[in-house]
Amino acid sequence: MSILAGKRIILGITGSVAAYKSIYLASNLVQAGAVVDVLLTEAAMSFVGKASFEGITGRRAYSSVMEMTPEGSISHVEIGLSADAMLVAPATADIVAKLAMGFASDIVSATALSLRGALLVAPAMESRMYRNKATTDNIDTLVSRGVHVIAPNTGRLASGVDGEGRLPEPDELIDELRGRLGAEGPLRGKRIVVTAGGTREHLDPVRYIGNRATGKQGVALAVEARDRGGMVTLIVANPSIRIPGGLKVISVSNYAELEKATKLEVASCDALIMNAAVGDFLPEQVAECKIKSGESGIVLELNRSPDLLSSVSGEFIRIGFAAETSELEDNARRKLKIKCLDAIVANDVGSAFATDTNEVTIIRADESTIKVPKQSKEGIATRVIDELIEMFSLREA
Ligand SMILES: Cc1cc2nc3c(=O)[nH]c(=O)nc-3n(C[C@H](O)[C@H](O)[C@H](O)COP(=O)(O)O)c2cc1C
Repeated sequence: MSILAGKRIILGITGSVAAYKSIYLASNLVQAGAVVDVLLTEAAMSFVGKASFEGITGRRAYSSVMEMTPEGSISHVEIGLSADAMLVAPATADIVAKLAMGFASDIVSATALSLRGALLVAPAMESRMYRNKATTDNIDTLVSRGVHVIAPNTGRLASGVDGEGRLPEPDELIDELRGRLGAEGPLRGKRIVVTAGGTREHLDPVRYIGNRATGKQGVALAVEARDRGGMVTLIVANPSIRIPGGLKVISVSNYAELEKATKLEVASCDALIMNAAVGDFLPEQVAECKIKSGESGIVLELNRSPDLLSSVSGEFIRIGFAAETSELEDNARRKLKIKCLDAIVANDVGSAFATDTNEVTIIRADESTIKVPKQSKEGIATRVIDELIEMFSLREA
C-alpha cells in the first residue's frame, strides 16, 4: 500500500503557467489514495479553475481565507491542522517571499502558518527570478526553518527559453512528498542497498548477452525502503527505467560494474537486497570491432561469473532473489543455504520478468515461508520491506 494511502495532503497552487501540472499532480495523489485539499491563490485562478480540482478530489477547493468549510469551520485553520503535509506547487516568487516573511494574506500562506504537518515548496519561475538574491535568500530562510524546498528542473520555461526554474513533473513531486512523509519511518537511519535490472555483457561494440529483467521490481523495493525512512542506494542495470527521486543512484551495465559498485556500497550498509538479474555467463573475449554479419556462424566461449551475493558478506542483512523456471522453492531453499542469506524471495520467471505484477514466496533463514499472492510489484515490495523491518527489529531486540 502506498505511503500516501489515507494521508491528508494539501496542494497549494499559485499563479504560474506551470499550474496546469497541478491538475495531473492532484489526480496522481488521489489515485495513490491521498485525501487532497486544494487551495488556490487569486492569481492561480487565472491559470486553472476550482471545478477541475473539485472533480478530481471530490472535495471542495478554496481560493480565499474568507471561505468556510462545509462544516462551518475556518478553512485555513481546519485544513492546516488536519493535514499530514502541504505541497505548494507551483510556488511563485511571490508566495516564496510571503512564506519566508510569515504573511497570511491569501489562503495558501495563511494555511501554511497553521500547518501541523510537513511543508514542501516547489518554486517555479523564470531563471532570473529564481536566481535573484531576494528569492534565494527567501528560499534559504525556508530551508533553515525545516521547509523542504524542491529544486526546480532545468528545461524549457514559459518564456520559451531553456533555463533553471521549471516545475518538476508530477511524479517527481510525488516522490519528494513520499520521501518526506516516510522520513521518520522504521528504516530511519538505515542504509539499504538495492540492485535492480539485468546486466548486459558485450560481445562486440553493438551486441550483448542480456536477460529480460526490467528493474521494475528493484526500483519498487528501493522506493518502498525510501518511503519507510531508509537511506537507499539503487544500483541499476537498465538505462531506460524511470528513476524516482530521493535515492542515491549508481548506473551500471555489466557484471564487472555491478560487482564494483555493490562491493563499494555494502562496505557501509545495513542491508543488501540483491534483486538484479546478474549475468551468469561472461564472454571469454569481447571483439573490439563489430563481428561481421557475413560470417556464416560463430562459436561463443562463455565463462561462469563469480556468484556476487556469496562474495559479499558482513554484518549487514542479505536478501536474495531467485528466479526459476522449475522446482521454484527447492532451488530457492538451496540458494538460501549455500549463500547463507537472511531470506530469499523465490519467483517464477514466467510471472516475474517483463511484467508489472509478480507472485513470490519469501523463505526466511529458518526456512519458514510466506506466500505473497499475485499483485503489483509495489505490493510485493511492501511485503519484502515488511520482512526487512522485522529482521532489523529481531536483531535489535
Ligand atoms: C502568464 C504569466 C505567467 C507567470 N508565471 C509565473 C511563474 O512561473 N512564476 C512566478 O513566480 N510568477 C509568475 N507569474 C507572476 C505571478 O502570477 C504574480 O507574481 C502573482 O502576483 C503571483 O501571485 P500568487 O503568488 O499569489 O499566486 C506569471 C504571470 C503571468 C501573467
